[in-house]
Amino acid sequence: MRKLTKDQPCWCNSGKMYGDCHMDFDKKIDMFRKKFHKVPPRQIIKNEALLAGMRESSKINIAVLDYVAENIKAGMTTEEIDRMVYEKTTQLGGIPAPLNYEGYPKSVCTSINEQVCHGIPSKNVQLIDGDIINVDCSTIYNGYFSDSSRMFCIGNVSAENRKLVEVARECVELGLKQVKPWGHLGDVAQAIQDHAHANGYTVVRQVGGHGIGLEFHETPFVSYVIRKGTGMVMAPGMVFTIEPMINMGSHEIYIDDNNGWTVYTDDEKPSAQWEIMVLVTNDGYEVMCW
Ligand code: MF3
Ligand code: CO
Repeated sequence: MRKLTKDQPCWCNSGKMYGDCHMDFDKKIDMFRKKFHKVPPRQIIKNEALLAGMRESSKINIAVLDYVAENIKAGMTTEEIDRMVYEKTTQLGGIPAPLNYEGYPKSVCTSINEQVCHGIPSKNVQLIDGDIINVDCSTIYNGYFSDSSRMFCIGNVSAENRKLVEVARECVELGLKQVKPWGHLGDVAQAIQDHAHANGYTVVRQVGGHGIGLEFHETPFVSYVIRKGTGMVMAPGMVFTIEPMINMGSHEIYIDDNNGWTVYTDDEKPSAQWEIMVLVTNDGYEVMCW
């Protein structure tokens, strides 16, 4: 890569001059690279225009999940949740990102109890009293992606399962607190796994979070089982999801042979997950979507 001079336009397409934009940023990145840290590639560093688009997309995603929150109840099928998500997303001018994504057949993922993620909505699956369910929504708006998920407790959920849902949420909150420029993704992961383990739970290893922007899934893969101080350096302008899957029993999982998508716990014990989308800012973080 040819070195830019300070009065040339910045590589991020902000329209600002390099000297007033990413020059100091690049010095910092070079310093980490020389110490063999994994650093973010330029193409995942968002400028303000891109972030503005992603914030609009996120607003829709949040509104869709709010709509689900108001209406979800025992007796409803997961197909009906899919309908709600499709209707609300399109009504607000968005497209549900999962629909036809790598052959995924529905507009949302609905993962109940021992389903870890990628549960496919179906007219044959009815919510019953005591279920815990993750509803994972993703939106494309004007080409900008957003992605977040929440857990819902249906009726009278056992104290044991309620605690799993709460701890999974705390894991995300504790991970979020670790997001700051020039830290490592492993700092987020360590906070999450420590809290999960302290409660006797495990963290899924093979599935994790991801960068996001003009694509649904961008680099990096965000693991929640790596150590503090390892993994990619967090730099301002990076956007990624924090979405650990917390299992009550073993971390082992398998994928449903019949549909090739749905992930289950091996031991059939429940799993819980919340997902937020986070921007690394100059002094910390901004939660874009939850
Ligand atoms: N929202 C899920 C994620 O966090 C998307 C899974 S891909 C799908 O990555 F096709 F199943 F939607
Ligand atoms: Co995601």
